[in-house]
Amino acid sequence: MKSIPSTSYSVHFNEHCYKELNAYLEASNFSKIFILVDENTHTHCLPKFLSNIDSDLALEIIEMEAGEVHKTLETCHQIWQSLSDLDGDRKSLIINLGGGVVTDLGGFVASTFKRGVRFINVPTSLLSMVDASVGGKTGVDLGTIKNQIGVINFSDMVLVDVSFLETLPAEEMRSGLAEMLKHGLIKDANYWSRLCKLKTLNSSDLGGLIHESIVIKNEVVKRDPNEQGERKQLNFGHTLGHAIESYCLDNEAMQTLLHGEAIAAGMIMEGYLSVKTCGLSERELNEIKNTFKSIYGSVDFTENDKSSIIELLKYDKKNSHGQVKYALLESIGSCKVDILVDDELIHEAFSFYAQ
Ligand code: GLY
Repeated sequence: MKSIPSTSYSVHFNEHCYKELNAYLEASNFSKIFILVDENTHTHCLPKFLSNIDSDLALEIIEMEAGEVHKTLETCHQIWQSLSDLDGDRKSLIINLGGGVVTDLGGFVASTFKRGVRFINVPTSLLSMVDASVGGKTGVDLGTIKNQIGVINFSDMVLVDVSFLETLPAEEMRSGLAEMLKHGLIKDANYWSRLCKLKTLNSSDLGGLIHESIVIKNEVVKRDPNEQGERKQLNFGHTLGHAIESYCLDNEAMQTLLHGEAIAAGMIMEGYLSVKTCGLSERELNEIKNTFKSIYGSVDFTENDKSSIIELLKYDKKNSHGQVKYALLESIGSCKVDILVDDELIHEAFSFYAQ
C-alpha cells in the first residue's frame, strides 16, 4: 500500500512501515526510545513491533492501564514521572503503540514533556488506524467529558501494520468501522456503499478500505489542520455521540459504550437533524439508520437520560458563544458545518432513534 503524505509527516503501511522507521531512527539523533503500551498491546503487539526494530538506541517500555477511564491527567502524570525517572531528555523519542487512548494520551504526554519531544504513532486498533492516530489531535478527558484537554501536534510518522488487527476483539473492529462509515457519509457516497456491503471485518479484506479512509481524513486535515472550518465535518455524529459516550461512562446503570457504538447512535440522530435543517432526504436517512442499527443495535434512553445527555452538549469542543454547533449532512457524501439546532429537534431525534 502506498504511503500517504500528510502535513509534515507520512503514514506508512505494513512491512514498508518498519523500513521507514528504521531509516528514520538511523538518520535522527535521538538519545533514547520510549515505547508506550497498555497491557493488551504489551502482550499482543509489542513482541512483533520489537522484532522489526533495528536500532542500537536504548529502549524503555512504559505501560499504562487500558481503557477510556484511564485517559486522564493522572495517567499522564504517571508517564511524565516515568520518563523523568528513566532519564528522558529533549532528544527522547516516544513511540505510542496502541489504540486511540494510547495514541491520543501518548501524543499529549510527548507534546508537553520538557515542552515537547518527538513522537510516532503506531495504531493497533481499527479506530486508531483510521482516525485517532492521524491528524495531530492529542489529549485526555476531563472527568467524563471527552478530550477536553489537549493540543494539536503532529507525530513524526504514523505506522499502520494491519496485521495488529488480527488480535482485536470483534466489538473493537465494529467500533472502528463506525469512523470509516462516517468518512463515507461526509465525503464519499461510493465508499459508504462499498462499506455497507461488507460481510466480514478482517484485516485482509479491510486493508484497502483502511487506506481509503486515511486518505479521506488526511485530505481534510491537510486543508484545515486547526479545525477552523472543513475539519469540523469529521465531527459528524460526534456532538450527540460524545455526549452519549460521556453519559454512559459516568452512569453505572447504562451499558458501557465503545466510541464507535456511541457515534453510531449519534450519526442516526444527527442524520435526523440533517433532514430537518440541511436537506438530507428521508430515503438516505432511513438507509443510514438501517445500516447502523443492523451493525450496532440500539441503546435505550429514558426521559431522564435524554435530558442529562442534552445538558452535556454544552461541553462540546465545537461550541462557541454558548451555542452548540453541529456538522450535518446535505446528502450522503456532503456535509455542512456550524449548524444551530433547537433543543426540541434533539428530543425528536431521540424519538426517531428509538423507533
Ligand atoms: N477525529 C476527528 C478529527 O481528527 O478531526
